[in-house]
Amino acid sequence: MRIRVSPVRRLAGRVVVPGDKSISHRAALFGALASGRTEITGFLEGEDCLATLKAVRALGAEVTRKGSGHYLVDGTGLDGLTEPEDVIDCGNSGTGARLLVGVLAGQPFWTVLTGDESLRSRPMDRVAEPLRRMGATVVGRREGSRLPLAVRGTRPLKALTYASPVASAQVKTALLLAGLWADGPVTVREPTLSRDHTERMLSGFGARIETGPQGITLTPGAPLRGQPVSVPGDISSAAFFLVAAAAMPDADVTVAHVGTNPTRTGVLEVLEAMGAAIRAETPGGPGSAAEPAADLVVRGGRLRGTGIGGAVIPRLIDEVPILAVAAALAEGPTEVRDAAELRVKESDRIRAIASELGRMGVTIAERPDGLRIEGGARLRGARVHSGGDHRMAMSLVIAGLLADGETVVEDTDCIATSFPGFLNAVNHLAGSPAARAEA
Ligand code: S3P
Repeated sequence: MRIRVSPVRRLAGRVVVPGDKSISHRAALFGALASGRTEITGFLEGEDCLATLKAVRALGAEVTRKGSGHYLVDGTGLDGLTEPEDVIDCGNSGTGARLLVGVLAGQPFWTVLTGDESLRSRPMDRVAEPLRRMGATVVGRREGSRLPLAVRGTRPLKALTYASPVASAQVKTALLLAGLWADGPVTVREPTLSRDHTERMLSGFGARIETGPQGITLTPGAPLRGQPVSVPGDISSAAFFLVAAAAMPDADVTVAHVGTNPTRTGVLEVLEAMGAAIRAETPGGPGSAAEPAADLVVRGGRLRGTGIGGAVIPRLIDEVPILAVAAALAEGPTEVRDAAELRVKESDRIRAIASELGRMGVTIAERPDGLRIEGGARLRGARVHSGGDHRMAMSLVIAGLLADGETVVEDTDCIATSFPGFLNAVNHLAGSPAARAEA
């Protein structure tokens, strides 16, 4: 599928974005490990999270769909997962794959995990290597660093204190989950704090988790009990509309019920530093106690360039492609630093942003760990390519709305991994069918 985009003059109205991807994966997985029932509302029915639901079913949990985004997961308890009959396909999802490897490290059976072409090229040694230290067998392509991987878990795993070289919530979560079957505490220290959904949700399920100066520690021994989980809207999906509205004079957009966990709100801070007017209304909302949410209201205006680096990077890592669009339109340059992780996401996003925004007339230079974007560009409509990366595809559609002339974004099926309904939301705010899918 490709999307043909016409420029729009104004964006206005209210949209709801689908459930948070990180929280949805965790709700499915923790629900499967718990005893009793986990009732999930607002679950993201995108391909990534649906693949995780399929995986937990293959491992023995019972999953019932009650309605849109509404699921019951009847878990097996910590001792009840069973060997799957077939290979588990995680699709495009790094989170699904890495979290599952952590769980499988503690299961006394063999499982084989694979994924699509993008996921099979992404590093898995960041979880495999520390899990081997805990006693699990993880073998696979490229010395066990790429999917397909075969995992033979063991029990008990050995306790571990691990200083992660990357600030990755996937690594942190995989190791803490493995700790559920360890013979002592597992502590993970990260260079800067990554998203903390696991710490919040897992303690709600009954796990013993402490955060201190030495890192995050899970002490095994406590059973997990099924919980209701209400998933707020995904700030990473909201970001496309926040940026589009912030960069368009006269825009007036509300994105309803967005998760505002402080480990995820770097995009709001950067947009504010760029001069955007964003207001959080009705904070709290009906979200679960553990995860705050708010309606985000944006009034459009002029943006100015800024620096993006250091501890904020893990708090906005998935929003860099769309922030690059904001930076291109802003007055003055923007530098993104300390973001080498972008090279191992669903695509090499540093390269992809530079090449595709370059086609749209932006002066932009790649750095090993970031980008320099000269502001003040008038975006030029162009034929651009997502590279199969959902966040690139959606960022380029938004760039097309803000450009002069028509833009065609190629290879956009990938949007369904995290944001089914994206085009409807775009056209609702545009007040016209500005973005049209073509076979
Ligand atoms: C995620 C963590 C981040 C993020 C990804 C989701 C998670 O990845 O980019 O989209 O749910 O834990 P890393 O942990 O690799 O930084």
